[in-house]
Amino acid sequence: MSLEPTEFMSKMVSRIDFSADDKTVLQTAADWSLEIAAEMADYFYEYLGRDAEMSAILNESEGRVHRLRETFASWFHEMFTGMDGWGSDYAERRWRIGLIHVRIGIGPQHVVPAMAVVVHEAGKRAQTDGKDQSLRDALSKICMVDLAFIEQAYIEVSAAAVLKETGWSEGLFRRLIKTGAAAM
Ligand code: HEM
Repeated sequence: MSLEPTEFMSKMVSRIDFSADDKTVLQTAADWSLEIAAEMADYFYEYLGRDAEMSAILNESEGRVHRLRETFASWFHEMFTGMDGWGSDYAERRWRIGLIHVRIGIGPQHVVPAMAVVVHEAGKRAQTDGKDQSLRDALSKICMVDLAFIEQAYIEVSAAAVLKETGWSEGLFRRLIKTGAAAM
């Protein structure tokens, strides 16, 4: 049960229908993404700070929020540049971001609404700035690709940890999950 980031990326690109046109639209707006990155970070961390659990994680160590505001801006900009054309560098980076969140103990229940804030606020700002609907569509799609990485990291790491600890086979593990779900 081990995820290969580039392969996962192409699966998600295909499932989400992130097209060549979407890539062009995002790259054309790369400068705009830099202009609005700080404002998006404000919305993002204000949102996380309003939740007691997330606020505690954010303020766990000194300078964390400050550091995060910078990494958020880079992350946001990378969605528009695509780094290496949304290729293996992009996929590896997204996978790493997923793993970091699993390590800190941030689960899907935190990440999904946080990504919704990004999609919502960036969409609103795009509208205010008179951007075409195609930009909002393309941004929503790449946000969903990124979200899929963070979510998948959570299940991949959990499953790998259980398999390593117990010595179970992957087949047995999957059967147990099915049985468990049926019993709930
Ligand atoms: C849309 C969802 C999210 C995105 C795109 C995102 C993005 C990022 C990025 C790019 C990093 C830096 C990774 C690195 O160092 O390479 C990071 C780290 C981190 N994120 Fe998130 N994040 C998200 C959700 C959350 C949520 C919900 C929390 C909850 C509090 C959170 C808290 C953190 C923390 C504590 C770190 C590590 C900071 C450190 O270096 O000490 N993130 N995140």
